[in-house]
Amino acid sequence: MVNARGARRLLARHPWVYRSDIEAVPDRPGLYPVYHRRRFLALAVVNPRSEITVRAYAFEPGDPADRLWQNLNRALSARARDRQTRPEGARRLVHAEGDFLPGLVVDEYASHLVVTVNTAAIDALTDALVDRLNQHLAPRGILLKNDSRGRLAEGLPLFVRTALGAVPERIWFREGARWLAADPFSGQKTGAFLDQRENRLLAAALAARHRPRRVLDAFAYQGAFAVQVAPHAEEVWLLDRSPKALEAAGEVFRKNRLPQPRLIEANAFDFLNAAAARQRRFDLVILDPPSFARRKSDVERALRAYKAINLRAMQLLADGGLLLTASCSFHLEEGAFLEMLREAAGDAGRSLALLAKRGQAADHPVLVNVPETGYLKFAALKAVG
Ligand SMILES: C[S@@+](CC[C@H](N)C(=O)[O-])C[C@H]1O[C@@H](n2cnc3c(N)ncnc32)[C@H](O)[C@@H]1O
Repeated sequence: MVNARGARRLLARHPWVYRSDIEAVPDRPGLYPVYHRRRFLALAVVNPRSEITVRAYAFEPGDPADRLWQNLNRALSARARDRQTRPEGARRLVHAEGDFLPGLVVDEYASHLVVTVNTAAIDALTDALVDRLNQHLAPRGILLKNDSRGRLAEGLPLFVRTALGAVPERIWFREGARWLAADPFSGQKTGAFLDQRENRLLAAALAARHRPRRVLDAFAYQGAFAVQVAPHAEEVWLLDRSPKALEAAGEVFRKNRLPQPRLIEANAFDFLNAAAARQRRFDLVILDPPSFARRKSDVERALRAYKAINLRAMQLLADGGLLLTASCSFHLEEGAFLEMLREAAGDAGRSLALLAKRGQAADHPVLVNVPETGYLKFAALKAVG
């Protein structure tokens, strides 16, 4: 089915084979064994309509459906301990290719599941998937959040619907010592950004140690970082361009019985420029922007944008102040991210110590063979001069 180049990719255990490396393909999406000449290479989710035509999920022969469900069981078992010890918490149960389940994401918020299916062959198995998730996890509800544009490339419709039980508009879940909100129907991603969970807990620990007076969370969404550091700060400024996200952030602070932060609806680029011009000072600045590089060709432009906000944030730091900065652009490699920070620090005329360099939460597994499974870069910096 695949040509020699496609075979080399699969032998190196990269799961994707593009249309240009396919010699023959079944006419319908499904789960199929993949061969080069007569040699078995993988079991794969195959879609003749999709540019990424083959997405492998196993590299040994076997029954295609059995093997897919085994992978699901394995992913769920790996999170079983966390589920038992923190049922009111949130976690990623399935991280697509990182868990050998192409295009499938399952996030859990306090025993509610939010499922996103981005491959046609797994989409066709949705009823069986919902049954299995129900049998294994007995959740309070399962929501199909099938509204990501990745589905269009697979010829799939966009929709959001409850597939089992009841799923509320807002789910409250615990992260460390705080309550956070996920809005699975209307929020971004599956309702919250679970990939930053461990970095937010690091932020809480750093804030407890450094006791920042004034904090700025510049791309705050529903205030998940801000609420982690707020108990250790005197004053919290929370900024986002989405009024809906800011309203939710206000609720999150109320739920945690914390004083209301200053909520600022603004473009972060404009706000940071104006604050630097006014020589404002913050003891902790958090930058968790959306992806600025959705395609490889965006990287140069994205680097300029990342540098602009980081440079301003560095200028705003009080002596000894902390900058927590992230990039979720897969196309921006870690080396380029650190180089951008080096250039921004140079232009800002600040010396910054690297306190920590991290990635995404451990339940978003990264396969070294599949760089696409890892996308989040995170650095904690301290102004030391
Ligand atoms: C990756 S999310 C932040 C997630 C958040 N830190 C958390 O842990 O839940 C990025 C946020 O930036 C906001 N945003 C995007 N572009 C912006 C801009 N130019 N100015 C202000 N906010 C922006 C989006 O509305 C979104 O809420």
